[in-house]
Amino acid sequence: MDKPFSQACENNKTPILAVLQDEFSASRKVLEIGSGTGQHAVYFAAHMPWLEWQTSDLPMHHDGILCWLADGPANAVAPLSLDVSADVWPAPGSFDGLFSANTLHIMGWPAVEDFFRSAGLCLGPEAILCVYGPFNYGGRYTSDSNARFDQWLAGRDPASAIRDFEAVNELAQASGFHLRADHTMPANNRLLSWVKPADKNDGNSYVGK
Ligand SMILES: C[S@@+](CC[C@H](N)C(=O)[O-])C[C@H]1O[C@@H](n2cnc3c(N)ncnc32)[C@H](O)[C@@H]1O
Repeated sequence: MDKPFSQACENNKTPILAVLQDEFSASRKVLEIGSGTGQHAVYFAAHMPWLEWQTSDLPMHHDGILCWLADGPANAVAPLSLDVSADVWPAPGSFDGLFSANTLHIMGWPAVEDFFRSAGLCLGPEAILCVYGPFNYGGRYTSDSNARFDQWLAGRDPASAIRDFEAVNELAQASGFHLRADHTMPANNRLLSWVKPADKNDGNSYVGK
């Protein structure tokens, strides 16, 4: 098969990498949720040779991801089957970083809750959680183009929606993460990062689902 291609990934990979190189500077094993085409994985792994980049997604994306990995760096690893709601996540403490781009507005809200609950259980102390995508603040869109995008999402799947930063941050906090940074990114996107404090590894208070 031909490699799947996302123009959006080509456009956003350089600014995302600039943030991740700092956020993951001390990370050794990063789990990516919803790797999509696999383009981000090979690019980020090639430019962060100090870490292992574990891809994952629903099985229908695996052949495409493997096509990219075939020409990619050795530290980008073959995909795990990981539906955040349906599959068993890697064992607690297996990863010290987690990245996901453009997934929270695609999956339904119950899956977003599962994402943060399981991320809190999977990631060890001092782990970094980074999420890239569009977010609303104070119940408002940050741009007209995001408002149009949200309408388009709703027409395609009523369960999809641009998420409120405050609601997502609440889930992260309930899973033991502290907000570290909210990076403004091109094209009205954000890159949110959280850290799991060393003394909060067993402080998971989230009891959703
Ligand atoms: C818009 S694509 C983004 C792909 C890639 N991260 C990117 O930025 O181009 C959304 C991704 O989320 C994945 N996804 C949707 N629901 C999911 C779920 N419940 N668990 C894991 N991944 C999911 C899809 O399979 C898809 O790869």
